[in-house]
Amino acid sequence: MKNIRLLASIAAGSVLLSATALAQEADKKAERAWKSKCASCHGQTGKGDTDKGKELKVEDMTAAKYQSKKDADLKKSVLEGVKADGKEVMPGFKDELTPEQADALIKYTRGFKK
Ligand code: HEC
Repeated sequence: MKNIRLLASIAAGSVLLSATALAQEADKKAERAWKSKCASCHGQTGKGDTDKGKELKVEDMTAAKYQSKKDADLKKSVLEGVKADGKEVMPGFKDELTPEQADALIKYTRGFKK
């Protein structure tokens, strides 16, 4: 009986460990995607303080104005792109990102909150 309980707690422990490892792996993937696809305009820290970001008037993602926007609206922008005065200022990423990857990137930008 004791042994069974011990085995059960070891199994539960390893399930927990692998869930944590998976979550960390997903976060790392989002970070890599951010750096390779998004940071040239939005900056590594989301402030938009790159040459391209300044040129395109990218908003500061650490600010409350950005952070108060809804996930669903942000996701639409990431997948479909963003226009300003009828001109495309950010390309849509629907050919490059799955909806789940877009979600992960939005979650990543939530980490920029001040
Ligand atoms: C070519 C430059 C450029 C690249 C690359 C780029 N963006 Fe943008 N992004 C913009 C501009 C310009 C805007 C519009 C101004 C603003 O809201 O900051 C914008 C807006 C956004 C918004 C806010 C949309 C809204 O509805 O308010 C999100 C979220 C976003 N980008 C995420 C991303 C993600 C994620 C990536 C990488 C997959 C990315 N961007 C790559 C230029 C870029």
